[in-house]
Amino acid sequence: MSWQCYYFHAGVRRPPCRSNKLGHSRSLSTALHFYQNRQLDLYAAKEAHRLTLRQLVFFGRQMDEDRLIKSANYVRTELPVRIAHRIRDLQALPYVVVTQEGVARVYELYWSAFEKFRRFPQVTNLSENEIFCEFLQNILDEHAPVIPSLSLGLSLASPHLPPDSLDSFMRRMLVSRISRRVLAEHHVALTKSLGKNSFNSHEDPHVGIIYTALNLKASIDKCVKLLRKRPRNAVNDKEESLFNRGWPEVIVDGHLDAKFAYIREHLEYILFELLKNAMRATWFKHRDAATLPPICATIVAGENDVGVRISDQGGGLFSAPIQSASDLFSFSHIRNATRMDDNRLGALRTASSRGVKATVAEQVGGLQANETERVQVGKDPEREAGIAPHQRIGLGLPMSNIFATYFGGSLELVSLDEWGTDVFLRLPKLGTNLEGIEV
Ligand code: COI
Repeated sequence: MSWQCYYFHAGVRRPPCRSNKLGHSRSLSTALHFYQNRQLDLYAAKEAHRLTLRQLVFFGRQMDEDRLIKSANYVRTELPVRIAHRIRDLQALPYVVVTQEGVARVYELYWSAFEKFRRFPQVTNLSENEIFCEFLQNILDEHAPVIPSLSLGLSLASPHLPPDSLDSFMRRMLVSRISRRVLAEHHVALTKSLGKNSFNSHEDPHVGIIYTALNLKASIDKCVKLLRKRPRNAVNDKEESLFNRGWPEVIVDGHLDAKFAYIREHLEYILFELLKNAMRATWFKHRDAATLPPICATIVAGENDVGVRISDQGGGLFSAPIQSASDLFSFSHIRNATRMDDNRLGALRTASSRGVKATVAEQVGGLQANETERVQVGKDPEREAGIAPHQRIGLGLPMSNIFATYFGGSLELVSLDEWGTDVFLRLPKLGTNLEGIEV
């Protein structure tokens, strides 16, 4: 244990101590963390057992009690290993970073979750599995503020970390979080569907949280429909007439029947963010013109992957000092100055105290906007135009990138500055790629 770590532990705030149903302490004292690092060492030394999407589908397809119990115990033993890796990452941060608002809170949440998982007894039957699912759901809800808290803390700490270290730390934290939530949510969904045949039900066919015939066009249409419902808070008549002109049309072409197996929430999160950016940029660029040029979404079903290209005429993406997509994905203020913008920090503070919607479906459905960086530094088109939009916390584009790459896909942005942007989303179709290495 280094002195840095010692100070780190000593500086961590402790949330109120409550007990859950199983009598576990919900939070251990900071001093205890210090002595219990031996346990952490044991878990952090283990490798994560990474899975492919196909493995998740094959295992969950024929669910019975035996398999469900196996799934519960896999989640019960796998999650503390993945959390331990990230607690180690947090412990390796400089003290000045750890003391930033938000970071200590995340550390405390992770430590508490690590202890709860580590102590959770083996699941041996369906009623114990019910308790386990309730436990998982509570942790999923409790961790809702993790992303805005981390983002707030790391934005504030940005002057103290080199951009590469900051971005690789954030990537590991976010990929790992997605992976843990996927495993927990998948298990809860498998439990709910035990005894039901989701292939014959009125719902779309799915195994746990994975939809086995996800229709890309239907997801695009759904996101466009939701985006068109965005509230408009016009404050005067001139704005009212601008708003009444509506959002640009989205033309969908290409392989309209394309279907593949994927996590619907991940796909729709990405599509929603990309379409939202395209609509807003188009609206802003052409706000004084008689008509808005349409956005084109082209679907391509390849042999190994599916692709979506979204092309807009919203004026392009990059303007100094933002020069590349990696700047847009960055959490460092050196690469992306909007990270230190007071309005964004304020919005992050609010999101971090309230928590963001727990699932992507809720985010999309509730139009909980995680607005992206698709604005020139220092400029906010909606605010300039007098719109009071959804809270903008600057996570939509980096999160979309992480969702896209999680199972080996990609997200690329090509800007034709002064004209428009083409965004290329590629997602693997066969489900044979392992989860990201950072889990
Ligand atoms: C998170 O949401 O940050 C988690 O780690 C959740 C997981 C422990 C179920």
